[in-house]
Amino acid sequence: MAHAVTAPPGTGGGERAAALAVRGLAKTYPGGRRALAGVDFEVAAGEVFALLGPNGAGKSTTMRILTTLSRPDAGTATIGGVDVVREPQKARRLIGYVAQRSGVDASGTGRENLTLQGRLHGLSGRTLAARVDALLETVGLTEIADRGTREYSGGTRRKLDIAMGLVHEPRVLFLDEPTTGLDPEVRAEIWEHITGLAGAGALTILLTTHYLEEADRLAGRVAILDRGTIVAQGTPAELKGDLRGDAIHVEVLDPAAAEPARRVLAGLARVREVTVDGVTVRALVEDAAGAVPLVLAALTERGVTASSVAVARPSLDDVYLHYAGRSAKEERA
Ligand SMILES: Nc1ncnc2c1ncn2[C@@H]1O[C@H](COP(=O)(O)OP(=O)(O)O)[C@@H](O)[C@H]1O
Ligand SMILES: [Mg+2]
Repeated sequence: MAHAVTAPPGTGGGERAAALAVRGLAKTYPGGRRALAGVDFEVAAGEVFALLGPNGAGKSTTMRILTTLSRPDAGTATIGGVDVVREPQKARRLIGYVAQRSGVDASGTGRENLTLQGRLHGLSGRTLAARVDALLETVGLTEIADRGTREYSGGTRRKLDIAMGLVHEPRVLFLDEPTTGLDPEVRAEIWEHITGLAGAGALTILLTTHYLEEADRLAGRVAILDRGTIVAQGTPAELKGDLRGDAIHVEVLDPAAAEPARRVLAGLARVREVTVDGVTVRALVEDAAGAVPLVLAALTERGVTASSVAVARPSLDDVYLHYAGRSAKEERA
């Protein structure tokens, strides 16, 4: 089933049509909790866009509004030119949504879950059966399709969730924390599936994640959301480049030495944003080559033994730390 791509009003001829356009989105929950304070972003057709941000930043609220499950107080959101508030039914046909919590029914098999989801979208007969087979294959569930989902692992269930979000061939797929809580191998597998879906070109993907390496790998562009506002937006490379300077990583042998090492670094001029992650102390410096000897000298002077001092280009984690004020790893802990 092919959908005609409708360009939203105001999209220039030369640019790719925006699959998703969000303008001034605001939302305060009953009780006075302000979740969104004016959010703007645009996602081009075929693009993978990641929303990053600490817990409570407003990522899920943004997704729920875009998927017509919640209403904004102000602002607009369009999917392929269709306004999600004014034409929710029409918008729903264009989108697939994989919520933060799994929507798999534990009393059915994988195939039954997927088939039911297709029926809810008005599909039936051979068209539906063929699509279910194809999707099970896509996410690698063919062999266990007829087993009860009660037996499925967390990762397998997540793959089924993604297949369920795709059954009606949406134009835009929303993935709210698709890999949170899964072990690294399964996460990597799901990344492959997402890359495959995006690579086919027809699908636009908006995902939220706590894993910055995931955003770095999968997303063409990212936006960092903090307290309901986008504080930075761009390609991962642009955001890292904007930080200016280098990251410096000091490793200590004994975890107990990490905090003293952090204090030594924090006390140095021109060393910014010092954080501890296990036995690694990370910071940003203007000129790494000049900073390394100073850092080593200061550590030695205070009796802190470092097993290594390394210079690195800033990671997306450094970007996140800079804008959100804390590291994504601390956030997950
Ligand atoms: N249904 C709700 N009712 C009241 N407050 C909510 C509701 N959902 C979310 N919030 C609040 O809105 C803010 C944003 O939440 P959310 O969008 O879930 O953030 P995120 O997905 O980035 O963690 C948080 O302060 C949260 O507590
Ligand atoms: Mg959330």
